[in-house]
Amino acid sequence: MSETLHKAHTYEAIHGGQIPPHQRPAFHLTPYVGWMNDPNGFSFYQGEYHLFYQYYPYDTNWGPMHWGHAVSRDLLHWTFRPVALAPDTDYDSVGCFSGSALELPDGRHLIMYTGVHRETDADGVTRDIQTQCLAVGDGMNYEKYPHNPVLTEKDLPQGGSRFDFRDPKLWQEKDGTYRCVIGNRPADGSGSILRFRSEDGFHWQADGILAENQNQYGKMWECPDYFSLDGKQVLMVSPQDMLSSGLEFHHGNGTLCLIGHEDPDGGQLCREQVQAIDYGLDFYAPQTVLAPDGRRIMVAWMQNWDGLGERSPEHLAWFGQMTLPRELTVQDGRLFQRPIRELDGLRGPCQFCGSLHVDGELPLEQVHGRTLDLTLSFAPQPGAPLYQSLSVDVACDQMYRTTLRYDPNTSVLTLDRSHSGTRRDVAHVRSCKVRDQGGPLKLRLILDRYSLEVFVNDGEQALSCTLYTPAEADGVCIRTQGVLSAHVEAYPLLP
Ligand code: FRU
Repeated sequence: MSETLHKAHTYEAIHGGQIPPHQRPAFHLTPYVGWMNDPNGFSFYQGEYHLFYQYYPYDTNWGPMHWGHAVSRDLLHWTFRPVALAPDTDYDSVGCFSGSALELPDGRHLIMYTGVHRETDADGVTRDIQTQCLAVGDGMNYEKYPHNPVLTEKDLPQGGSRFDFRDPKLWQEKDGTYRCVIGNRPADGSGSILRFRSEDGFHWQADGILAENQNQYGKMWECPDYFSLDGKQVLMVSPQDMLSSGLEFHHGNGTLCLIGHEDPDGGQLCREQVQAIDYGLDFYAPQTVLAPDGRRIMVAWMQNWDGLGERSPEHLAWFGQMTLPRELTVQDGRLFQRPIRELDGLRGPCQFCGSLHVDGELPLEQVHGRTLDLTLSFAPQPGAPLYQSLSVDVACDQMYRTTLRYDPNTSVLTLDRSHSGTRRDVAHVRSCKVRDQGGPLKLRLILDRYSLEVFVNDGEQALSCTLYTPAEADGVCIRTQGVLSAHVEAYPLLP
């Protein structure tokens, strides 16, 4: 084992072990200690889900990237494994960037990741170069492949950038051969997703271009994932430098889902639908796994590069967390996402279940908590004029609140955490357009100490955000202008 890897193992065992469980989310994955960004290597290997992550154990800020590692049987209770990869070779000395993993037919776990190293060019300028590398392991320990890197600038199409060539997502085809997709920056300065193929998972060759951005959605496309779902082909990417567009896409780092079919000749993705993946404040770099029971499950980094000013309280020895794993489907040509059904198993006795008539302000006295599963189904009151607005406050008390506001006339849903105790002037409000149903709206809200995830109308849309509101703020309150009926179902979540 290299000295760099050994040092990281020792550090995380000592310092990670000191974090009291109540200082982490109850069922969302956080780093063993220090910094976490993208989910990596999300795979089902030898009876367990493995989730690796971009990791810098020594600080709660980004640093030379390692791969942290955790395993779970139900995607809710995670056990840390020692750091899997450290930046300890010539070809990844700057960092082991994002990538993916799968189980080889011989039972080994294969990781493909981006190795970053620094070169000084003939012009005297030092630049970071990105190549694709492999590592093989047994679910605990991983060895880098002696013939790394396996894909370099030589494998790029004309004009492709060796500085932006990253985040391989690999899978095995039914015929036993392997494929991967990788983000690249072509000559036009925006993003493209390249395809590669391999007979054995170790020897790779270029296989064309899956999709080109052509400066339409941001610039570079990071962290691609590509799969079939419900008869469609789905490509997920995380574009940098987006321009906002209506309420669908916000500016900065965003996420995008392109749904369509493959052109049988060129293997290009023909788009039928392009949409945001999450409409909240903190969501980036999603990655999926195909579960043994056929579900396509996604997790993402519940953070955004542009919102990093919003920090967790200083006493927390970790920064960054994953979203709740979500089951994906394509329905009516759009991406749907629902919390994994395993979450239902964490529900404690119902706090309140029943229908209420709301006209003005209604604190839900029986409903409270910061690990909460709350479903609210709103409907206009028959015979009464359509209500003018509704809002739901969670994580609230006299001083704090995080609010969802809905205007039935415009079908705009707004998430607002301006009063969550933040001391930073980053984006705290985001709105999206939901399906116009003339008044009815269904929201499922999942709170887990440091986050809120909202699922709209049984998975049509999701909004995620981190929250660092003091734990004592745990109330729920509904407010309306006009009258409506609200069906409430509230469960504490008890891991
Ligand atoms: C996305 C990303 C990836 C890269 C990694 C580095 O968040 O920028 O493109 O591999 O983070 O940590």
